[in-house]
Amino acid sequence: MRNELEKDILKILVTEEELKARVTELGTALAEKFQDQTPLFLGVLKGSFVFMADLVRACPVKSDVEFIAVSSYQNATVSSGRVKINHDLQQDITGRNLVIVEDILDSGNTLAFLKDYFMAKGAASITIATLLDKPSRREKAVSADLVGFEVPDEFVVGYGLDYCQRYRNLPYIGVLKPEVYSHT
Ligand code: IMP
Ligand code: MG
Repeated sequence: MRNELEKDILKILVTEEELKARVTELGTALAEKFQDQTPLFLGVLKGSFVFMADLVRACPVKSDVEFIAVSSYQNATVSSGRVKINHDLQQDITGRNLVIVEDILDSGNTLAFLKDYFMAKGAASITIATLLDKPSRREKAVSADLVGFEVPDEFVVGYGLDYCQRYRNLPYIGVLKPEVYSHT
């Protein structure tokens, strides 16, 4: 039976099984790259929290975990182009090999900003792992080292991604019914 959340979903783009299989592959690739390096996984909140939790468990190397919270979308489906830090780093990242963990690479504004910010803070290297990539919408020249899935130019929710802070707890990636946007 469809529950309260699922009745708002028009279609599923990436299933729970596909997510699990791909995140396992990404974790394995990161483990090979960072075997002896103790990387710092740096999740970009809030959207990355589900992906981050699965990715670190799929990557069997010694690592540390950190978060930064930023926003560029003021409860809308289009980027404002500005990035605001809502919760900053709680540790020194000087000399660290970072794995930035993002939910989706869209315009590129967020990751372009964060790359500069972390380099200025003294990071030794930056690897970008994004669950989703919407290359058709890029405004800044930034690309990810690891991409889970390329998605078309549609607004997606689930597995951490929200619309107006909702739908993050869906276990798959889906597209909302058009009427949902006019009701919230
Ligand atoms: P960018 O700065 O335009 O690359 O956007 C990055 C951020 O915008 C992501 O971390 C998401 O939080 C949000 N975002 C972009 N596209 C979507 C979408 O389709 N669904 C939900 N959030 C999105
Ligand atoms: Mg978001």
